[in-house]
Amino acid sequence: MRSSSGGRVYLVGAGPGDPELLTLRAVRLLQQADVLVYDNLVSPGVLDFAPANAERIYAGKRRNEHTMRQEQINALLVKLAREGKRVVRLKGGDPFIFGRGGEEMQELAAKGIDFEVVPGVTAACGVASYSGIPLTHRDHAQVALFVTGHLKDGSKVELDWPALVRPSQTVVIYMGLNALPEICRQLIAHGAPASRPIAVVQHGTMASQQVLTGTLADMPHKVAAAKLSSPSLLIVGDVVTLQETLDWFRPTGAAGQDTAALPLDILTSLQP
Ligand SMILES: C[S@@+](CC[C@H](N)C(=O)[O-])C[C@H]1O[C@@H](n2cnc3c(N)ncnc32)[C@H](O)[C@@H]1O
Repeated sequence: MRSSSGGRVYLVGAGPGDPELLTLRAVRLLQQADVLVYDNLVSPGVLDFAPANAERIYAGKRRNEHTMRQEQINALLVKLAREGKRVVRLKGGDPFIFGRGGEEMQELAAKGIDFEVVPGVTAACGVASYSGIPLTHRDHAQVALFVTGHLKDGSKVELDWPALVRPSQTVVIYMGLNALPEICRQLIAHGAPASRPIAVVQHGTMASQQVLTGTLADMPHKVAAAKLSSPSLLIVGDVVTLQETLDWFRPTGAAGQDTAALPLDILTSLQP
């Protein structure tokens, strides 16, 4: 699919936060971008890879605060590509996981705009790694499920609860912080033991990462007391018990370093 203007849209996964988790392809494209269109979950450090004179357009997408409506974003991408620009459309994590990347690309395909999709480290993988929770483990979980806990009509979470309470699996819930009490209540009501382990990870992979572990019974109180905020990810399953031993990430201090501050000479030497 080629657009006659020569413009192209690159839908790029920006990863969960730490800019060091960008792919080489993402960095290369950022370095060559004319314009960036980015969502609110994209770290500022990611934007720094683009040339200073590249235009930066914030498309928003915070909960309850959509700076630009989806149709406006779609129309903007089409317009910029038709102007012949190299457009990098940045989305947090992976663009095809709870990111509406598919919808944006459908619109480009319908308009005959040339595009490419670059995967990113999705929050489930990045956050699990940085908090020391393997999503699968031979002794604990043979299945990992990614679901969204987004409240439908602001009040109800509609999920396949019987499928989520099975043993020997890990359930990762995106956008589930606000519905946490309802999620824990439903899982217990559908047969999960109240003692099933759960972790809530705020700002995973970032210097401000905070990991709370507990059970389905006590996590709503723990989260309320800790006043966790978005973005946060819920991880449910026995693998959470490994966190205490595998917790390795020290954003600051002797045992680790703020990886966002590592030198980037290897990246600057990349060939286009
Ligand atoms: C709209 S979804 C976008 C997911 C993204 N496309 C991905 O692949 O990670 C946003 C949700 O992802 C989760 N999330 C994204 N980044 C996160 C982070 N750094 N720490 C914890 N949760 C994160 C949160 O549950 C947040 O509400």
